[in-house]
Amino acid sequence: MSEGPSWNSPEYQELLPILYGFWSFQLMRSGVELGLFDALSQKPGQSRAQLAEAMKVSEPAARLLLLGCCSVGLLRKSGETYHNGRSAEALLVKGKPQSAIPFVQSAQALQYQGFFRLTEALREGTNAGIREYPGEGTTLYQRMNHNADLERALYDAMNAIWSLCEAGLDGIEELKAASKVLDVAGGVGRVAKALTDRYPQLKVTVFDRPSACEQARANAKEWGRTERILAVPGDLLVDPFPEGFDAINFAHCLEWLSQEQILAVMKKAHRALPSGGQAFCFQFAVDDAETGPLYSARLSMYFYAVETGAGMAYPARDLERLFASAGFVEVRARRALPFEHVFVSGRKP
Ligand SMILES: C[S@@+](CC[C@H](N)C(=O)[O-])C[C@H]1O[C@@H](n2cnc3c(N)ncnc32)[C@H](O)[C@@H]1O
Repeated sequence: MSEGPSWNSPEYQELLPILYGFWSFQLMRSGVELGLFDALSQKPGQSRAQLAEAMKVSEPAARLLLLGCCSVGLLRKSGETYHNGRSAEALLVKGKPQSAIPFVQSAQALQYQGFFRLTEALREGTNAGIREYPGEGTTLYQRMNHNADLERALYDAMNAIWSLCEAGLDGIEELKAASKVLDVAGGVGRVAKALTDRYPQLKVTVFDRPSACEQARANAKEWGRTERILAVPGDLLVDPFPEGFDAINFAHCLEWLSQEQILAVMKKAHRALPSGGQAFCFQFAVDDAETGPLYSARLSMYFYAVETGAGMAYPARDLERLFASAGFVEVRARRALPFEHVFVSGRKP
């Protein structure tokens, strides 16, 4: 008799979703790309032949995809017909509110290949994963300047993130007290939209790469907010921050910087603000004990191994310390906001 856990042991059953995670992900992605979940949402209870036709693949190919999706619970089979499982119906059908499809697309476009080099990245202490993405520059953001597909995948994912986290910005006294916010690395204006939706007195200026600023201006026009959402291009690591703002916001941008870079950027913000000016940070955070949660743990590794080679979804206590070290007082972190977020604020004396 052989020793060790059998195939049916709890140990194997616990390991399987991790061991074959690569396959489950690709099944899900193919189901999304081929329109499998859309077809079953429109018409539940279709047969293999009908689904093969809807997906424009052969019946043997459909057979294997349907089998795989049933085995991981994305589909249910009843007799000879198929139905979406609960998560596929709620999250993987195109056009549904809060669909997870942008997460699927960004995982495929920005992360999947990069993580292939994880051990290399950990051993070398570099973002070795970036070698999988063609282009110039040492960070994925720099490579995005010349790759519209990468850029689109990033901002679609950010939009999906905002739908899940923006409630964390509700009713924040420090935001009620601000009037002109510089939104560092503000992307295509989605942060500015979330802020101006909630705080009618706010004017927000996006500070980001030139191509992001262009899209932010176009979005501001589309949202009828050109008076309240502006954009100035700049490099947060190189350029001084423009003055004339009573608040500087960092949303999802201290996450991919080292603690030394964060301190330098926070000190720069301190210099640019008037006395009484405020600094804010709104981003993913692991718990203070550093045992999770999963999205922030995965994101942390992504920054380090693929995107920039630095950073993590720092626990709130690190952020509080960095704010204080840069000279901010009355530093306050709101923890456990929706979607693993934290909001940190501080005031320049
Ligand atoms: C994760 S996205 C977050 C965007 C936005 N803050 C949000 O929360 O949706 C990071 C942003 O940082 C910008 N960025 C990266 N490096 C930058 C740099 N050196 N200077 C200015 N912006 C930069 C990227 O263009 C991108 O828009």
